[in-house]
Amino acid sequence: MVFNGSAVLITGASRGIGKATAQEFLAGGARVAINGRTEASVAQAIKELGGHERLEGAPGDVATAAGCEAVVGAAVEKLGGLDVLVNNAGVFTQTLMAETDEDLWDSLIDINVKGTYFCSRAALSALDNSGGAIVNVASEAGLNGYAGITAYCTSKGAVVNLTRSMALELAPTVRVNCVCPGVIDTDMARIGFADLSKEAEFYPLKRIGTATEVAKGILYLASPDAGFITGAALAIDGGATAGH
Ligand SMILES: NC(=O)c1ccc[n+]([C@@H]2O[C@H](COP(=O)([O-])OP(=O)(O)OC[C@H]3O[C@@H](n4cnc5c(N)ncnc54)[C@H](O)[C@@H]3O)[C@@H](O)[C@H]2O)c1
Repeated sequence: MVFNGSAVLITGASRGIGKATAQEFLAGGARVAINGRTEASVAQAIKELGGHERLEGAPGDVATAAGCEAVVGAAVEKLGGLDVLVNNAGVFTQTLMAETDEDLWDSLIDINVKGTYFCSRAALSALDNSGGAIVNVASEAGLNGYAGITAYCTSKGAVVNLTRSMALELAPTVRVNCVCPGVIDTDMARIGFADLSKEAEFYPLKRIGTATEVAKGILYLASPDAGFITGAALAIDGGATAGH
């Protein structure tokens, strides 16, 4: 896909799906600002992506509105505008309701939901100027419920529905869509699940997904090829939502 010269900000791009998405946008000719929680993690990711001249760093915590404003402001300044915002930063935990305390709940909601909402809000005028697009990274767990990850499902269900609502509010200028990945082979899944081969069995396609497979869905939704798509939730989940 061609994004020649487009200005793209990806939150949580120091590793995993975000970093793979940065790689794909770079390959498409975009200029990419990479966010991660710390300066060191962003510098490391830029190095791992070959220190490309079309890469910029926009480190910072997206769990607060002020943090989101700082991150988006830095990216818009360095890139000279913004065409695409990918709200990818997120955290996951498998914790039973009985063991979920307020701090854990707050961190899931603050990073996964508040971060998505306030980064989008901070990017509004830049995206309005460019007629750009937002792609949120929700989850298949935002479309289905799962015992043991209720707080995570809550946060990702919120991302799916804020995508729909934002799409209506920002139309016709800015398109807003989300991807809903099943289990993807990243540090998040490797740390979060005891046995990934067991997870693979759950999917009709009998495997888990790759970060690049999700990245390609994100690029499609951000591209002019998806010009008539807004408010959509694209499942990239090996068939999980087809009938489980
Ligand atoms: N891996 C999966 O199985 C899977 C499945 C469905 C959805 N997702 C979603 O995809 C997104 C990316 O996940 P991943 O698998 O690449 O995870 P990951 O843990 O490998 O990477 C997450 C990234 O988010 C960043 N991040 C976390 N909190 C942040 C904060 N407060 N401020 C800034 N950056 C922060 C981390 O630094 C990291 O770069 C997340 O939103 C996740 O919920 C992942």
